[in-house]
Parts: sequence; C-alpha cells; structure tokens
Amino acid sequence: MRARICGTGSALPRREVTNDELSKIMDTSDEWIRSRTGICSRHLAVEESLTALAARAARQALSEAGMEAAELDMILAATLSADKLLPSLACELQRELSAERAVAFDINAACSGFIFALQTADAYIKSGQYGKILVVGGEILSKLMDWNDRSTCVLFGDGAGAAVVRADSEFGILGSVQGSDGARGEVLMCEDRKNNNPYVSNTKDLSYVSMDGQEVYKFAVRTVPEAILKATERAGISVDEVDLFILHQANIRILQSVSKRLKIPMEKIPMNLQTCGNISAGSIPILLDFVNRRGMIQRGNKIVLAGFGAGLTWGASALTW
Ligand code: ACO
Repeated sequence: MRARICGTGSALPRREVTNDELSKIMDTSDEWIRSRTGICSRHLAVEESLTALAARAARQALSEAGMEAAELDMILAATLSADKLLPSLACELQRELSAERAVAFDINAACSGFIFALQTADAYIKSGQYGKILVVGGEILSKLMDWNDRSTCVLFGDGAGAAVVRADSEFGILGSVQGSDGARGEVLMCEDRKNNNPYVSNTKDLSYVSMDGQEVYKFAVRTVPEAILKATERAGISVDEVDLFILHQANIRILQSVSKRLKIPMEKIPMNLQTCGNISAGSIPILLDFVNRRGMIQRGNKIVLAGFGAGLTWGASALTW
C-alpha cells in the first residue's frame, strides 16, 4: 500500500498586498521585488486565523475525496507559525472539523514541512497503521516578519493548503527522499521568544525571521535538482517522464535554475509565487490545489513535489496521480 492523494484544497487570506503598496511603507519598489523574485503581490492575514484557513482548505480536500472528517485516522499539520504554541494546529483543526477519531500533531520542517508530513503519512500507510490521513501545510508568516527588514518581509505570504491521502495499491507515492543539515541552520532562522523565567538572565526581545538570502539561494539551486533526481530514481522513472513539478515557491530564479539544470521545460513547472509569495509549508499544497482545480493533472500523471527550507531541510516525492 502507498499514500495516494485523493483530494486537495487551499485558502488564502482576503487581504492582498501588492509590491506598490509595500513601496509606500518601506524603501522598496515593484521593479526590485519583481525582477529579483518574480513576486508581484501576496496575501496577508489581517482577520483570519491559521486554523480557520487550514479548516477551509481541509473541507475542500475532504469534499473532493468524498470523505467525512469523522473517517480520518490522522491529521498532520506542517507549520512553523501555528496560532498557539499549545495546542498544535493539527489539534485545533481536529476540533474545528470534529474529526474525533483522528490522532493529530504538527511537524515543523519549515518550507519542506508539507513534503515531510506527506512522507510521514506515506510511512504510516505503508506500515498498515492508518489508512485515511489529512495532511495540511499552512503559515501566517506575516506575524514572524521584521517589517523593518525589507530584504525578508517582501518575500513571504500567508495561506494554507491541504491534501487528503488514503491507502491505495495502485496509485500514489512511488519514491521519496528527505534530508536535513542542522549544522547550517543559522542561514535562515527565527530565535525563541523572550524568556520570562526569573532564574534566566535574558534581555532578548521577540525575534523575527532572519535570512542570508544568497546562502539560501545557493543551497536551493544545488539541493532541489539532486533531490528530484534521487526521488525519481527511487520511483523507477526518469525526469523526462514526469508531467508536472510542483516545487516550493520561493523565487522564480530558483525555479528557472532547476529547469535549466535538469532540462525541464518551464511549462512543466507551474507557479503561483507571483500572487502568493513564499508561504513556506503552505506553498506546495496551495500550488498543488491550484493546478488540480484548473484540471492540469489527470489520473495516472506522474508528479514530483520538491521543497527546501530552514533547518536546513529538503525533500522530494515522485508519485502517480
Ligand atoms: N527593495 C529594494 N532593495 C532591497 C530590498 C528590497 N526589498 N531588499 C534588499 N535590497 C537591497 C539590499 O540592501 C542591497 O543593497 P546594497 O547593494 O546597497 O547593499 C541590494 O538590494 C542587493 O541585496 P542582495 O541581498 O544582495 O540581493 P540579492 O540579489 O541576493 O537578492 C534575494 C535577494 C531575493 C533574497 C535572493 O538572495 C534570494 O532569492 N535568495 C533566496 C531566498 C529564498 O529562497 N528564501 C526562502 C527560502 S527558504 C524558505 O522558503 C523559508
């Protein structure tokens, strides 16, 4: 048995903020952001919680799968920006959906989070322990951004995506790869909140995301093609046989570099970073839902999902739709 995706969903906050709007509150320009990243606008959560966005995405995915929330064995939520430190987003979602039977927990692998959660679902399904799993990836990154740091805050957006997977003997995940390099974690991080313990001397204020953009860029353009090659090899298919590559939406130049290195036509690498920015763990499931709803994937198609992110972490899965 393997995990087969049988329903997808996504939800973006109502408020869309263009590059031009950002240029009114900080020293930046549409030209700078667009030419360096491909991003034109992003959605920012002003009134929505992450739980509400994830629940909207999950209901769409359940509906397409023809499944009731009460049937779910497990809910896995990939996020680094849950509404609360406790309880987890997955448990909040369980309550929201009334998925009483499900066991629920979060996975934090930053932008690789959805891939890691999907691979965890696949492992549970392969073991025979569970058969119906909701996998969600979502973020409200805008609350973790330093809005005085123009080099990071313009890159990210908010939103959630979901996929319902079930055990299948024919279709589903064929091969996966995942990796971590904690020794290089400092290139993309967000330190802990201020410690209130009276026995600890700690004057740090609340911390925000900081990033060495050029190091992350170099890491991404090397790691993503390697991960794709390994996942397709494990799946027993060639890169040429893959119909669509659903890649983490961080920067158009990274996607173009992957296309060039692996000789993949850009038509096979759909994008929504233009209107979404980088939604970390939400980016891959939201794009997957966009292409699914536009009828761009047919039963039997070969799809590769691949991402990279803080940790550092990376992962890819090759599957039959
Ligand atoms: N508007 C205008 N100017 C800016 C802005 C901005 N928003 N941000 C930075 N600049 C300026 C800098 O201050 C610098 O000015 P200086 O030359 O006078 O010092 C200049 O632009 C160039 O800055 P660089 O950082 O060298 O710009 P670079 O060409 O490297 O592009 C970018 C930066 C877009 C972040 C690029 O490095 C990148 O895409 N890296 C990958 C980042 C990424 O993928 N992150 C997410 C990955 S993991 C995850 O998803 C969580």
